[in-house]
Amino acid sequence: MCGIIGYCGPKPAAAVILEGLKRLEYRGYDSAGLCIYSDGRFHIIKRTGKIRDLRNSVPPLLKGDFGIGHTRWATHGEVNNVNAHPHTDCDDRIAVVHNGIIENYVSLKEKLKSEGHVFQTETDSEVIPHLIEKYYSGDLEEAVKEALALLKGTYGIVCMHIDHPGKLVGARNGSPLVVGIGNGESFLASDVTAIISHTKQVVYLEDGEVANIDADDFRTTDLRDQVIEKKVELVSWELEEIEKDGFVHFMEKEIFEQPESVKRAMGGRIEPDLATAHLGGLNMSNKDLLNIERVRIVAAGTSFYAGMVGAYLLESIARIPCTVEISSELRYRNPVVERNTLHFAVSQSGETADTLYAMRELQRKGATVLGICNVVGSTIARESDGGVYIHSGPEIAVASTKAFTSQVTVFYLFSLLLSRMRHMSYEEGVDFIQNLQSVPVKIEQILMNNQAIRNMAVKYSHFKDFLFLGRGINYPVAMEGALKLKEISYIHAEGYSAAEMKHGPIALINEETPCLFLVPDDGLKEKIISNMREVKSRKGKIIAVAVEGDSEITEISDDVIEVPRMKECFYPLVMVVPLQLFAYHCAVELGRDVDQPRNLAKSVTVE
Ligand code: G6P
Repeated sequence: MCGIIGYCGPKPAAAVILEGLKRLEYRGYDSAGLCIYSDGRFHIIKRTGKIRDLRNSVPPLLKGDFGIGHTRWATHGEVNNVNAHPHTDCDDRIAVVHNGIIENYVSLKEKLKSEGHVFQTETDSEVIPHLIEKYYSGDLEEAVKEALALLKGTYGIVCMHIDHPGKLVGARNGSPLVVGIGNGESFLASDVTAIISHTKQVVYLEDGEVANIDADDFRTTDLRDQVIEKKVELVSWELEEIEKDGFVHFMEKEIFEQPESVKRAMGGRIEPDLATAHLGGLNMSNKDLLNIERVRIVAAGTSFYAGMVGAYLLESIARIPCTVEISSELRYRNPVVERNTLHFAVSQSGETADTLYAMRELQRKGATVLGICNVVGSTIARESDGGVYIHSGPEIAVASTKAFTSQVTVFYLFSLLLSRMRHMSYEEGVDFIQNLQSVPVKIEQILMNNQAIRNMAVKYSHFKDFLFLGRGINYPVAMEGALKLKEISYIHAEGYSAAEMKHGPIALINEETPCLFLVPDDGLKEKIISNMREVKSRKGKIIAVAVEGDSEITEISDDVIEVPRMKECFYPLVMVVPLQLFAYHCAVELGRDVDQPRNLAKSVTVE
């Protein structure tokens, strides 16, 4: 979703901003623009398409030591150069970039128009520079605050004024913004990836805070001008982590990182002597943990499917009733918060608006909500009552892969912790840990089948519809596999319970609709085989993800992807990997933009 970078300092601002925008590409966008102050005037360049198109339009000699840039993911107004940010006031003396949505922009725009303001774009964002213009009488920060007080909705903004060279004002309400503090240079950005090649020292702004920066200093206040002292934090990521490292796509790199990222999610959290897990960030005593009677998980997208696996685990292993809900639905259905219910908000980015607002709604009702996040310092991570970082390192590809396996790993740890406080014996705990710790090696074995999975993807990528079918704890994995295929190859795919197929989707089966079955050697295998026969007798093609050496499955299937044998409940962590690779190779075969699929955003910060 939209990205922001602002720069004040001695380097050529256009180069710094273009580099930052390039690093923000992963968030998903359809146009981009920048404004550089040089030779006493603003140079504003905006282009639809990729950052390289914008870069090609920037005069190589354009100097300037401060400016702002933006990647736009269209919400209000079509994708074109005019609607791209930055937006300006009537006289082009104020330039603003904005993430989020201004909900009351129609009435504000009408009023401003009646006062003589002339608008250029169809966007909601353009009201901001006009409001600042209206209130400006020499003090930019003051005008920004007056303007912001009138806005309803969400924003992360950065603005600059032609009369205030070398200064930027940024503010946040619902859309993230960080201040980057360098050596004689300062930044404002919507996420740290944009600035990490320049500085690792950052200040995370909270909602309602305004930052005023110049090359040497920054100042933070609230909207009523009260100074707020902020803590400078150190970003723990390395620049190399956001480079492709020899892989063609970030998604491929991230799939291959999973043996390591799953290990990191477990790192330091297993207590072999006690055969349990230790999750330091929960902020809960053993007594609190023992009092948990129910768990509710809220999330969106891939994190929702990870939550579904988590719910299966918590019920089947820890024997704690657990529900999982789409965060956007939960928020608006006036959910009941019961006593002794623990809530989890699961989010890779920690910024997904639906999940953040669901979490706030639950907290407002008195619920304890723990976060399971990847991005350190993200809003959900900061506002939750405690939680667990998955420590996957930056996930750049829009389609989530390593975050899924790490989120699920955290649910194994949490299930172990709760189970060992209840019915699970020491011996069972030891066995559980051994199985969990064997997962990274098993993922490595699957990754060695990459070429075979690629060949299969080449064979099947011309089909238009797929069914992904699984049961029990692997049913959410089937849905995640279908989501991956949809997201990056644009092939239509549905994830279903294999048993539920006969209640509708079976009508779709013919030689044009391949079915991908997940068939572990668990208690439901025979049932799944019956479903496979139902497909076969209707001439449907069958791809199976099955345990190595399973001749029965090989005999029914057209193609088989083998996974190592595991203890039943651990299959999701390995079954998902071939599905990620299958989707990836289909997308490559079809020539799709794998890391930045059309219309999608990495971090969806609007409702
Ligand atoms: C977007 C992304 C998905 C992601 C979902 C939830 O839709 O494109 O890949 O699964 O948001 O994101 P979160 O950061 O909350 O896990």
